[in-house]
Amino acid sequence: MKTLIKNGTLVTAESSFQADLLIEGEHIIQIAPSIEAIDAEVVDASGQLVLPGGIDAHVHINLPMGETVSSDDYYTGSKAAAFGGTTTIIDFVSQDAGSLAENIARKRAEAEGKAAIDYNLHMNITRFDESVAEELADLPSLGIRSIKVFTAYNNRLRLGDGEIFKVMRIAGRHGLLTMVHAENGDVIDVLTAEALAQGHTSPIWHARTRPGWGEVEASLRAVALAAQAEAPVYIVHMNMAGEVDQLAYGRAHDVPAMGETCPQYLFFSEKDLERQDGAKWVCSPPLRSPADQDGLWHGIETGTIQVLATDHCPFFYDGTKPILYEGKLVSIPGKELGKDNFTRIPNGLPGVGDRLPVFWTHAVGACRITPNQFVALTSTNPARIFGLYPQKGCLAVGSDADLALWDPNYELTYGVHVAQHRTDYNLYEGWQLKGFPRQVFLRGKRIVADQQWFGKAGSGRYLMAHPGEIL
Ligand code: URP
Ligand code: ZN
Ligand code: ZN
Repeated sequence: MKTLIKNGTLVTAESSFQADLLIEGEHIIQIAPSIEAIDAEVVDASGQLVLPGGIDAHVHINLPMGETVSSDDYYTGSKAAAFGGTTTIIDFVSQDAGSLAENIARKRAEAEGKAAIDYNLHMNITRFDESVAEELADLPSLGIRSIKVFTAYNNRLRLGDGEIFKVMRIAGRHGLLTMVHAENGDVIDVLTAEALAQGHTSPIWHARTRPGWGEVEASLRAVALAAQAEAPVYIVHMNMAGEVDQLAYGRAHDVPAMGETCPQYLFFSEKDLERQDGAKWVCSPPLRSPADQDGLWHGIETGTIQVLATDHCPFFYDGTKPILYEGKLVSIPGKELGKDNFTRIPNGLPGVGDRLPVFWTHAVGACRITPNQFVALTSTNPARIFGLYPQKGCLAVGSDADLALWDPNYELTYGVHVAQHRTDYNLYEGWQLKGFPRQVFLRGKRIVADQQWFGKAGSGRYLMAHPGEIL
């Protein structure tokens, strides 16, 4: 089975050029100015851009949180991703009971028969001892090349600095990238107890009890630990301008330090947490100030930040009221759990499907970055950093035919009825967007066309990651 994408403009991280692209089976087999293939189905991409499918390097599918669980499973989350032009996601494995390998097997079983796009996994390291130290060496053979550690969530997820240092050192020796969730767990615990004792219950207190300085200092700590461990580090979900400064400082001193931000930190601020429906915006780390947004944009524009991910971790706003999903009523407890206490609001936001269209409109459409930078930030860089390149993240002969046929002139009013996340709200409700994926291909198969779904549960595959690159 061959498919010929004709007359499109191919956009890679390096350049944009007019070319035809021929797919056979699951792979791209030819790229040339003009291709004729009588045995191929022809897709006319005139006026459209051909982008490598998006890669979201930070999502949480089925993540248990307090009294509930994030509301997308592998089917609904991967379908939502595909509608927004993303064809690969990287989720996190919680370190629950048992060995790392057992935890990974359990997570993969959740995806089995459900994932509709390809996926890889990061391993959380939230408990460290001699046996975990030994097991880290096994991760590459299980296809995992990245681990996540936390400087917050005391007595639950956090490791001590000495443990993080040890983990990074072992990770560096085994070709693993350490990702760091950088907040100050001790300060958060003090401020949270004080806020609750004073009767503060509303969503804004989620941000007020997690001061941004804690993130700035924890980011520098992560970079400094990596320098001392002689190992690479990647700061996740950066939301503070000061974190970008710390990353730039490390990079200027030759520390192999990289990082990501997420759309919510570019477009929303603490003000949104003060709204009557502020719980919709509760995530960790929290939304910050317009000055922080500027700092993050600067980091994106100058290349200090390599990746735009989402930290997709959706919850219902009102999980007592069902929504219709594929003809069935579904309700999952959500943000209403914290109506009397901000610490009980499940932390996290929907976003895997929103990422590309929202970012295109406000980054490329606003001339902040080029289409090539867009591809680098949303597909090529995550593929390279997380060891999926060149199978994913590029338009090249031999690569998987994961494509988004992108119409840069398509205008729409966005919101919960366009996005396909399994939740009852969307952060970008009513936003006017320009630029949208009209067709999406996963390994040569069309899975979305004109906002219609042709994908299938179970057709997504687990990807074996290789050693990643330092960018
Ligand atoms: O609020 C968020 N981001 N929830 C997901 C967990 C995390 O730390 O990324
Ligand atoms: Zn995190
Ligand atoms: Zn996360």
